[in-house]
Amino acid sequence: MEKYILVTGGAGYIGSHTVVSLVENGYTPIILDDFRNANRVVVDGLTKILGKTPEIIESDVCDDEALRTIFQKYKFKGVIHFAAHKAVGESVLEPLKYYQNNLQGLVNVLSKMIAFNVQNFVFSSSCTVYGEPKGIKEMTEESPKNLPNSPYGWTKWIGEQIIEDTFRSNPQLKMMNLRYFNPVGAHKSLLIGEFPLGKPNNLLPYITQTAIGKLEKLTVFGNDYPTTDGTCIRDYIHVVDLAAAHVKAISFLESQTGCLETINVGTGKGSSVLEIIQAFEKETGQKLNWAFGTRREGDVTEIFANATKAKNVLGWQANLTIKDAVIDAWNWEKKLAEQNEK
Ligand code: UD1
Repeated sequence: MEKYILVTGGAGYIGSHTVVSLVENGYTPIILDDFRNANRVVVDGLTKILGKTPEIIESDVCDDEALRTIFQKYKFKGVIHFAAHKAVGESVLEPLKYYQNNLQGLVNVLSKMIAFNVQNFVFSSSCTVYGEPKGIKEMTEESPKNLPNSPYGWTKWIGEQIIEDTFRSNPQLKMMNLRYFNPVGAHKSLLIGEFPLGKPNNLLPYITQTAIGKLEKLTVFGNDYPTTDGTCIRDYIHVVDLAAAHVKAISFLESQTGCLETINVGTGKGSSVLEIIQAFEKETGQKLNWAFGTRREGDVTEIFANATKAKNVLGWQANLTIKDAVIDAWNWEKKLAEQNEK
């Protein structure tokens, strides 16, 4: 019998990599995506990697009636809920867009799960719920949640609260918040990867677009932070490893009775912005045009995962390195450039 998993936002960056990982592990993903923030090239990429086109339903997760029809059609084993807006800066300018889409979408999905008795649920949360860590920078799942500094961050923070409250009144559910650190890289096949819309906000796409000449120069936001080299520290996790964590999460939930778990998905190691630039230059042989600039408002100084729980509970750990990530991200950027030339 097919093990159908609804993957909302399954044509997006992390979603598409997770679709591949699900198929490789015997699941049948059903993608729900409205392609507002996803690129249709992903469908061709997935088709080539998987040898067949996955089922794709083009619809908005906020369309309650459409969602009901989908739940009627498939007997889902579980849901992985990626569909959400994710640009921190944009969320400050358009908060209602974020609250509407990210929270309404979540509520719609959860209410359908209850109505149709679907029990396994994985939520895309973020290390942003830790806010600016006070004291120790290595976050365990028990580290205190601090107030987020953007509406995007709030949607993850409130999303976790919605999930907790839903679980309390529906203890038969099996739910997991995966708190992602910083996803980077692309699939080795170079058939799927990230398609930043407009000018990228995130570090690695900014680096690769600068190196290829799409952008003139990378500004390193701040060199006066209290870290080893003065630049911010993050835990960069390869998207292929991150995708695998979702499959482990679904398979763990299948083995449980009612539960709610929260798990960090990171490498357990922090890297500074300068270390990422150096790794990029060393591994790709590209000279990057960059300069120090002022701090970016809202940036956290230093944060990285304690990844012990992921290992103990899910049997998951990161296998790929920063070296893999910068090489894959660069090859992906070159591939995009080649495609644009055609
Ligand atoms: C942010 C969010 C994270 C979210 C992610 C999604 C916070 C605290 N973090 O991650 O929850 O999942 O966006 O996109 O809200 N940098 C530069 N120059 C650049 C771009 C980035 O120096 O042009 C630096 C930043 O200052 C930061 C690091 O690179 O230190 C990583 O930045 P970025 O990739 O934007 O991710 P976060 O801000 O960590």
